[in-house]
Amino acid sequence: MSKASSSTLDIPAVGSVPRHVAVIMDGNGRWAKKRFLPRVAGHKRGVEAVREAVRSCAKAGVEYLTLFAFSSENWRRPADEVSFLMQLFVRALEQEVARLHDNGIRLRIVGDLSAFEPRLTRLIVEAEKLTAGNGGLTLTIAANYGGRWDILQAVNRLCAADPSKAGRYTEQDLAPWLAMSYAPEPDLFIRTGGEQRVSNFLLWHLAYTELYFTDTLWPDFGEAELSRAIEFYRTRERRFGRTSEQLAVRADAEIAPRRIASDAAGR
Ligand code: IPE
Ligand code: IPE
Ligand code: MG
Repeated sequence: MSKASSSTLDIPAVGSVPRHVAVIMDGNGRWAKKRFLPRVAGHKRGVEAVREAVRSCAKAGVEYLTLFAFSSENWRRPADEVSFLMQLFVRALEQEVARLHDNGIRLRIVGDLSAFEPRLTRLIVEAEKLTAGNGGLTLTIAANYGGRWDILQAVNRLCAADPSKAGRYTEQDLAPWLAMSYAPEPDLFIRTGGEQRVSNFLLWHLAYTELYFTDTLWPDFGEAELSRAIEFYRTRERRFGRTSEQLAVRADAEIAPRRIASDAAGR
């Protein structure tokens, strides 16, 4: 099955570990407020939690980790917080990329990068180039990302590339133009910080993703929390529109040939 296979057109393979985990890292500001610290102190601690999430996801066997770092609506925040977040992004790229590369991690940044200052854009391009050939975890940072922006940019690029097909585009035509066409759809979505909303994250891609919400604030989210989320994921029955009975029949069909083979071996 191709990486970009669709949960609405095919039935994706389901394993006990999610292949792709997508996270809304929320609660940095509240983490800081609880400690009578400025909001930005929470963002700084948030970077440490990112480091741990990358490590624990790689250890758990997750292949794709996507982290929502800055939404297309986060520009509405006070200017000094926005500029701190941009500086933090620059610093994180300067300081972390070499280590990510040493650990075989492939780094991708998705979002409308045209809004970033040239220095940040340069660092992004260099980091992606350096790590492009790595075969370990694919870490995607969504920055100035919005689910609506993504769908619209994909539609606009598709229309420009193949105008003759206007009015007859299919899901398969659109999918390659989405910002994360290199990854399978997320199996597990995690939102920290207690809110139960999607906040314009991967709107297209979350069609059949399992949703996990926790009150834990992002700077407090560690390996144990990730294990809890994966445990939750394991308890889900991923039906993709089918009935439980259909899934049971399928499981029987998969077990049956093995039973026959072991009976034969026993004879
Ligand atoms: C998430 O934490 C980080 C970003 C959106 C950049 P918040 O900054 O939203 O933290 P809360 O929700 O105010 O606690
Ligand atoms: C979502 O968090 C965006 C990121 C984590 C980057 P927000 O804190 O911005 O979401 P809302 O505004 O509470 O929905
Ligand atoms: Mg928030």
